[in-house]
Amino acid sequence: MVQSFSLNESEYQSQLFHAIEDFVTEPSSTAAISKESKAIFLRRIVLILLTSSLLIFLWLYEWNPDTFVQETLTIQGSIETGNSLFRMNCVGCHGITAQGLVGPDLHRVTYRLSDPEIINQVVKGLTPPMPSFEIESQSMADLLAYMHSLN
Ligand code: HEC
Repeated sequence: MVQSFSLNESEYQSQLFHAIEDFVTEPSSTAAISKESKAIFLRRIVLILLTSSLLIFLWLYEWNPDTFVQETLTIQGSIETGNSLFRMNCVGCHGITAQGLVGPDLHRVTYRLSDPEIINQVVKGLTPPMPSFEIESQSMADLLAYMHSLN
């Protein structure tokens, strides 16, 4: 009887011990996990913000077509280089002397269009079938000088 009581007691004590152990350890480990995932979440947010602001910065200051236009307009172009660039890239559509073929005659085009409009016409590909050209600002200035010489 005494033995059986003492067995029950130790069983009860061990259950109580485990219950207390669970109570003490569980909440703290859950807290540790949520703290860690919060840190990961915050790190991701910060990464996304940094990446997107970097992209916006690059877009505004590097890839903005208006920056390209402004840069091109400050460069003195060469009519001769412009002519050879034109022969390589444009004559298939605009004709060997820019008299017009698939594309329109480009004589006096600089009266019809402003310099920024012409630059955008060449680099933006706004009017298919004319493609957009990836071109250095120096070459664009040369082409522009050539087109001015057609007047
Ligand atoms: C695949 C054919 C093609 C090529 C190559 C091409 N163009 Fe064009 N281009 C056109 C067509 C078609 C138009 C007319 C688009 C429209 O309907 O507004 C045009 C329009 C233009 C205009 C506007 C003319 C105007 O009166 O509105 C300019 C300027 C021009 N091209 C310059 C160039 C230059 C410079 C190159 C070479 C770097 C070039 N193009 C290469 C087909 C071409």
